[in-house]
Amino acid sequence: MSNFDKINLILKLEKKEEILYHNAMCGIFGYIGEKNTLQICLKGLKQLEYRGYDSAGIAGIKNNNLIFCKTSGKIFALEKKIEKQNLELDIAIAHTRWATHGKPDEKNAHPHFDTHLSLGVVHNGIIENYAILKDFLKNKNIKFSTETDTEVIAQLISYNYEKYKNNLYLTVHESLKLLKGSFAIALIHKDHPNIILAAARESPLAIGFIDNKNEILISSDPNAFIGHNLNVFYLRNDEIALLSKKSIKTYTNQKKLIEKKTSLLEGKNQTFSKEGFDHFLLKEIFEQPITIQKAMLGNISEDFGTAYFEGLKFSSTELMAIKHIIIIACGTSWHAAYIGASLLEDKARILTTAEIASEFRFKNPIISEETLIIAISQSGETADTLSAVKEAKAKGAKILGICNVKNSTLTREAHSCIYLNAGPEISVCSSKAFTSQITILSLFTLLMARLRHFTKEDGQKFLSELKKIPKIINQVLEKQKEIKKISIKYSKYKNFFFIGRKYMYASCLEAALKLKEISYLNATSYPAGELKHGPIALINKNLPVIAFCSNKQTYDKTLNNLMELKAREAPILAIAPNNAKEILQIADDIIFIPNTIDELAIFPTTIVGQLFAYNIAKAIGIKDIDQPRNLAKSVTVE
Ligand code: AGP
Ligand code: GLU
Repeated sequence: MSNFDKINLILKLEKKEEILYHNAMCGIFGYIGEKNTLQICLKGLKQLEYRGYDSAGIAGIKNNNLIFCKTSGKIFALEKKIEKQNLELDIAIAHTRWATHGKPDEKNAHPHFDTHLSLGVVHNGIIENYAILKDFLKNKNIKFSTETDTEVIAQLISYNYEKYKNNLYLTVHESLKLLKGSFAIALIHKDHPNIILAAARESPLAIGFIDNKNEILISSDPNAFIGHNLNVFYLRNDEIALLSKKSIKTYTNQKKLIEKKTSLLEGKNQTFSKEGFDHFLLKEIFEQPITIQKAMLGNISEDFGTAYFEGLKFSSTELMAIKHIIIIACGTSWHAAYIGASLLEDKARILTTAEIASEFRFKNPIISEETLIIAISQSGETADTLSAVKEAKAKGAKILGICNVKNSTLTREAHSCIYLNAGPEISVCSSKAFTSQITILSLFTLLMARLRHFTKEDGQKFLSELKKIPKIINQVLEKQKEIKKISIKYSKYKNFFFIGRKYMYASCLEAALKLKEISYLNATSYPAGELKHGPIALINKNLPVIAFCSNKQTYDKTLNNLMELKAREAPILAIAPNNAKEILQIADDIIFIPNTIDELAIFPTTIVGQLFAYNIAKAIGIKDIDQPRNLAKSVTVE
């Protein structure tokens, strides 16, 4: 099957794909029901695998005893160990860990227990005051056996249990009040062999159940519910759910029993599949002609040369009053923010900056009633971005979210939200979400420009260029074989420079990040003009330079910079528009790509960067391309 047939297949499959998709770092899974608890939990953990993790474990109750099994490494290792132990469980909680406190070894893997092994806890997030609590509990002669913050939750609840007269719900309610930080937890206790208790603060936790409540599933990511049709609701703001067969009781942080609103998740016939591609990353790279069209779908008015967004709740008058925009995001989403800022300044003439969320929240930003904050996040669960949003809200800012994951935290925090509609992004290394983010930002820029000085004709011209992008991307994807050949040639190097000017600098940032994430090679990006101010000292024949030359406005200047590098023997791979002839005299290798306007050249160049990184990773034998080491799909800790 050719890659293009595969894309058509994906298109057909995606029509059916209405499932909610959440991401969180690592994962929680739990089960109460009549089916094989272990099998269901292991399947759930496997569906969480794509997000990256370092160890896994499970605990449950059998004959009033608390039994557990945990290991470092992959679910496969846990499965083997479970088989060996002949484990059987009635109810269970399970976990994949992305270590924040303590090494990713077996001892620190979840679940965690109190000293008497009376209760077990799985946890996503960070307990910020764990050190103080640990000291307090140690002073009460409680012995800790792991380095994690999570063990504090287990020991604290166990310590309080008697005080609250063995009332598990009350003990957990009171104990949560003492915790600072973010968490989603699931807990079992051997005195309550039929109950799983679940609670969440600033970390996603979904509960799914069938109509008669004979089966209840818990997960930090409803993707893990694939294979089941369930009613689903989410716990928020320290809500606690007491789950047992046939019964779900949910309490607010004020101990009020509430009825949660549920939505139907029809996941029974859903599967996540690579559709014949070697990796989800490659599949997602090849989906981009479609996902970009999906981002445009319904948002364009060709007659008026402008864009509309269903989810945008700000009126034209409000949008016209905006004089200042700050875009906040992390990682790849920040690269999209960087492009968005250039577009909004260039085209809509609005003062715009792109801020790294983890830095922004510690600034004292200048925000007025004329400021708009745009927060970009594929997952909508990135803790740094969410904290920055909260800081901006505290200063009275209006927040527009740009997000892929429906019902994620960002979509609730933002005053208004535009969705990417890119479908689930399974590869930890982001690809299609980035190009969809840029599509939305291009359309938002168009809308803002039309509300200002852009004529209808200006708008229509921009739109007609944007509409050509999916076809242009297809043409770049057709070069996969050529890009693979060149990547193999360059895979012998250990360090790389990526250079470009103006809009091409963002292509460099993104291409270098892709290479770092999946090939574990050192890649640095620079605006080409900056090299002579220092980095050129590193240039020699073993340091290849990947030059993005698709910005017409700065093309000549980029060539000058390349000449300076060539004089110092750097191997040069240029990515240049089809009509660029001068480059033939300078570069050692060239990947020619279709021509487009400067503002949109980020699209084809990004595809080359993605394929270059992917092919190098393959060439040097990296196996875990979809789940690179040390990374998680969404970073729910600060
Ligand atoms: C991208 O390849 C990375 N895995 C990472 O930089 C990511 O873009 C970043 O963590 C932000 O995630 P978000 O878009 O879900 O907020
Ligand atoms: N902070 C906890 C730990 O390091 C939980 C991490 C996670 O969310 O996986 O074990």
